[in-house]
Amino acid sequence: MSSTEDRAFKAEREIGRINAFFPILPTLGNRWAASRPWQGSTIALNMHLTTLTGALVRELSLGGGTFIVSAANRATTDPNTVAMLRSAGIEVYTGGDDADRHQQALSHNPDFLIDVGFELIAAALDRRPDLHGTLRAAIEITRSGVVRLRERSDLPFPVVNLNDGRLKTAVENRHGVGEAIWQAVQRLTGVHLSGRRVAVVGYGPVGTGIAAYARAAGMNVEVVERDPVKRLLAHYDGFPTPSLEDAVQRVGILVTATGRSGAVTMEQLGRARDGLVLLNAGHGGDELDIKGLRQGSAQVDHVADRVVRYRLHGGPRITVLGDGHPLNIVLNSGSPEPVLLHFALVGLALDWVAHTELSPGESVVPAALEDQAASLALQALEQCGG
Ligand SMILES: NC(=O)c1ccc[n+]([C@@H]2O[C@H](COP(=O)([O-])OP(=O)(O)OC[C@H]3O[C@@H](n4cnc5c(N)ncnc54)[C@H](O)[C@@H]3O)[C@@H](O)[C@H]2O)c1
Repeated sequence: MSSTEDRAFKAEREIGRINAFFPILPTLGNRWAASRPWQGSTIALNMHLTTLTGALVRELSLGGGTFIVSAANRATTDPNTVAMLRSAGIEVYTGGDDADRHQQALSHNPDFLIDVGFELIAAALDRRPDLHGTLRAAIEITRSGVVRLRERSDLPFPVVNLNDGRLKTAVENRHGVGEAIWQAVQRLTGVHLSGRRVAVVGYGPVGTGIAAYARAAGMNVEVVERDPVKRLLAHYDGFPTPSLEDAVQRVGILVTATGRSGAVTMEQLGRARDGLVLLNAGHGGDELDIKGLRQGSAQVDHVADRVVRYRLHGGPRITVLGDGHPLNIVLNSGSPEPVLLHFALVGLALDWVAHTELSPGESVVPAALEDQAASLALQALEQCGG
């Protein structure tokens, strides 16, 4: 077997295992194979190329149409998934910088876009005005993308906001990331979590889940949040809510979940407790100032796979996991169920926009689609002992 075939086979085998315990996507794939809802259309996706995305694209492609995939982040790209998709005849762009990959995906003149982080959609808006009249709809999956979407007042085509329905943030952002991030930390470092002191920066759904699962694992959890309402909620959930400056001097682990670049500054890190471990769960790779750490360090040690320890000039040692990229995605850790659930919703939304004339601008995912996705998830759980 060639190495490409071998890689594709590994991804197939992994998808088979995932589908065996939560068969929500194959149920939809069978339905799409019969109804061919996007026959004749071109769909461009900008997503983290994990095995789960491979599982989604494989089922979507049964519904007809041409699928084009660009890697949302090279650090979260799984080569086995890329090999599997390419061997299924799907065009996958993984090289160059983000802008190159967006341009390549858009060069296929897609009818529909599916995006994480509003990157492919922004590229279509800013760099391909010729597509504005023909793009039928776009689907944005993430919180960060919705923030960027709302900075635009002049959307010339419909954009479905999948993040702000009832399901995605409640299940995936909260339970999915909350569980997965701690598995990733254990896998990389081998630390026993119980008794460790951690600060979670950002108390949106992602931070709320990370804090809850940390507490369930026996950690001492503190929450840093700039929004006073969320800080108060964290307090009533039972967490101390110090400032970041205060927390970094005390905690052993710090997780960012803000979706904002530069959430932790070099000045704050300069005053951190010696040995602080830093990781990020937010969408971008820029919540932690990795470049600043590199430049501000007297010594940089590659301690283990994806574990880098920086000794700051005249300051503490800081260990960064996963180079500041969303750690659960980099390691593909945690239960696949929450992601499969919102991927089912992505497919249902694509089916919906392919058959519905929507007005330009943002629309939140309809409740009826979420009801369908939840029913399919309950059915999948029932089939496999849930
Ligand atoms: N790793 C994953 O698999 C995964 C999954 C879903 C979402 N995400 C990403 O995680 C991030 C958080 O998602 P969310 O749904 O919780 O978003 P959210 O916007 O609801 O919550 C972010 C919180 O961070 C707070 N915040 C912002 N800047 C801050 C700062 N400098 N200091 C302290 N608090 C600050 C905000 O007030 C807000 O309450 C987003 O980037 C999202 O795209 C990652």
